Amino acid sequence: MNPTAKAAEAIPMLDLRAQYAAIRAEIRAAIDDVLQTQQFVLGPQGAALEAELAALCESRYGLGVGSGTDALMLALRACGVGPGDEVIVPVFSFVATAGAVTALGARPLFEDIEADTFNIDPAQVESRATPKTKAIVPVHLYGLPAEMDAINELARRHRLAVVEDSAQAIGARYKGRRTGGLGDAAAISFYPTKNLGAYGDAGMIVTGSDELAVRVRGLRNHGQSGKYVSEEAGWNSRLDELQAAVLRVKLRHLDEWQKARQEHADTYNRLLAGFSGVTTPQVPTGVEHVYHQYTVRIAGGRRDRVQAFLAERGIGSSVYYPVPFHLQPIYASLGYRRGDFPVAEKAAEEVLSLPMYPELTAAQIERVATELVAALKS
Ligand SMILES: Cc1ncc(COP(=O)(O)O)c(C=O)c1O
Repeated sequence: MNPTAKAAEAIPMLDLRAQYAAIRAEIRAAIDDVLQTQQFVLGPQGAALEAELAALCESRYGLGVGSGTDALMLALRACGVGPGDEVIVPVFSFVATAGAVTALGARPLFEDIEADTFNIDPAQVESRATPKTKAIVPVHLYGLPAEMDAINELARRHRLAVVEDSAQAIGARYKGRRTGGLGDAAAISFYPTKNLGAYGDAGMIVTGSDELAVRVRGLRNHGQSGKYVSEEAGWNSRLDELQAAVLRVKLRHLDEWQKARQEHADTYNRLLAGFSGVTTPQVPTGVEHVYHQYTVRIAGGRRDRVQAFLAERGIGSSVYYPVPFHLQPIYASLGYRRGDFPVAEKAAEEVLSLPMYPELTAAQIERVATELVAALKS
């Protein structure tokens, strides 16, 4: 195949097969080990992964659960959130952030985001809390930590629990400290496309609190404090041994994968710098981005046309997220209107995530950037 033909190959948003090809032997050996033991739930793999994740997050406890959504819901519940309570969430995230709140019979209180970081704007939250507000869920969107000092400070003043939605930000740092250890508890998702992805659904709660750890350990397992003794109504949400074994193999590679993502982001930034109509990700000083997504803004109402232009040339891209929570049909009854959260509404019209995964090559990144610039000029 000549170089030109190769350069014109399709570039998907994500290529998990390339990752599997690199770690196939390790994964198959780890899965086989679990199959030999025939122990599938709450076993040694899960316990080891919990300890490794707690260490990664520089926190004390990891508690494996069925998904990132379950992690959010059970963490909030362990923090005392229940029917009739309110929880502050950014209006621009994956629907699970708000869905975990409504699943508990609580009400999400929506808040706008900062234009630069796409994360919840702490300056606006101040006026939002009411006596019914029990918690706040900052989302580290796309892998960029939220402004946690300001969030923790206002949470302290209003006596709110802080549950980080760290689904997209495993391993990122805020002022030298790892996400997952920045609030009362954190929810991590191991959905297959995440930076550390399982081969199915899986999630984890990370906390430094003895009390929350005991509570979650019960809640994820039918509220049991001992064998067949249930203290409170719980649920079945446990991370199984096969997923834990896969995740432990991948965890050994996470550092090198994160570095590759950061290098790819630097390359995109360099290639896209100075072109009008595209804004590359902004990273505040002292914060480390792990680029679960590399998301640009396309100004001037041209985002959808640019996306179609890329698609015609075999280049994948995605819009995370096209509809902010307050405009989602599911939340119509909460009484919000278009115009309530202008920064998020504008972001929903402008964001475009470009292919981002460790195995991307320099030539592929260059081609994405070249075609994006061509789209802007067309
Ligand atoms: C920001 C955010 N929160 C929560 C979740 C929910 O995680 P899961 O899909 O593992 O339930 C996801 C991922 O899907 C997410 O991206």
